[in-house]
Amino acid sequence: MAMLKSSLAFLVLAFAFFVCFIMSTGDGSYDYFQFVQQWPPTTCRVRGKCSNPRPIQIFTIHGLWPSNYSNPTTPSNCIGSQFKESMVSPRLRSKLKRSWPNVEGSNDTRFWEGEWNKHGRCSQQTLNQYQYFERSHEMWHFHNITNILKNASIVPHPTQTWTYSDIVSTIKAVTQTTPLVRCKQHKKTQLLHEVVLCFEYKALKQIDCNRTAGCPNQQAISFQ
Ligand SMILES: *[C@@H]1O[C@H](CO)[C@@H](O)[C@H](O)[C@H]1NC(C)=O
Ligand SMILES: *[C@@H]1O[C@H](CO)[C@@H](O)[C@H](O)[C@H]1NC(C)=O
Ligand SMILES: *[C@@H]1O[C@H](CO)[C@@H](O)[C@H](O)[C@H]1NC(C)=O
Ligand SMILES: *[C@@H]1O[C@H](CO)[C@@H](O)[C@H](O)[C@H]1NC(C)=O
Ligand SMILES: *[C@@H]1O[C@H](CO)[C@@H](O)[C@H](O)[C@H]1NC(C)=O
Repeated sequence: MAMLKSSLAFLVLAFAFFVCFIMSTGDGSYDYFQFVQQWPPTTCRVRGKCSNPRPIQIFTIHGLWPSNYSNPTTPSNCIGSQFKESMVSPRLRSKLKRSWPNVEGSNDTRFWEGEWNKHGRCSQQTLNQYQYFERSHEMWHFHNITNILKNASIVPHPTQTWTYSDIVSTIKAVTQTTPLVRCKQHKKTQLLHEVVLCFEYKALKQIDCNRTAGCPNQQAISFQ
């Protein structure tokens, strides 16, 4: 009898774990991707401390974030495989060192590890770790944001400012979809900080981003 009870308890427990597992692996629990690029000088100015005192003057990758329409900052920290450094081949590594450097610190691998563990593994059923980094690099390479802005004379300048739509329409004219532009307030200035391109579920086709947490409306944007 005791034996039967304990095996029944075991079955119940095993079933409970199974249900938890199915729910937490969250198969497909995101709607689209946000591909986020940052302007390193703004990141450094706002954070106040970067190990490299002269941050590079090109947009670099912050991350590729599986996101929800209802709550664009989720999901994150999903249960999924932890980052494996061995899955970054030497060839991929040399590409990521250009497109996805650790702007605030000196250990690039640590930045990649953080982004994969926080965001990447939430969409593991779509892109495995290798594909996640490879695809991100391709996205960065395909639309050179620094160059798109430069072509429209939107270049770092100590005093000149732009409107939100100047920046968005310049990028949209090339990518054919609406990006999201994020700023950081520094002293009294809105500094251009991040450009987000949105992709559908499979991260293949670009789609319009919704304007959630973009730069404040009607305020002059400074690019320094
Ligand atoms: C995200 O959206 C998906 C599908 O719309 C849903 O199943 C999931 O529960 C949502 N996750 C979070 C964290 O909001
Ligand atoms: C860089 O970060 C990775 C991942 O966290 C770690 O394994 C490695 O030891 C770090 N390298 C150095 C030189 O600190
Ligand atoms: C992107 O454009 C910038 C500015 O024109 C240029 O310096 C950089 O080399 C370009 N990057 C790539 C990967 O083509
Ligand atoms: C920038 O302008 C040059 C010259 O008009 C053009 O060849 C190039 O494709 C443009 N680049 C982008 C990213 O729009
Ligand atoms: C924007 O929001 C609408 C309504 O919530 C949704 O249908 C649309 O797909 C969203 N697009 C993105 C890229 O978030």
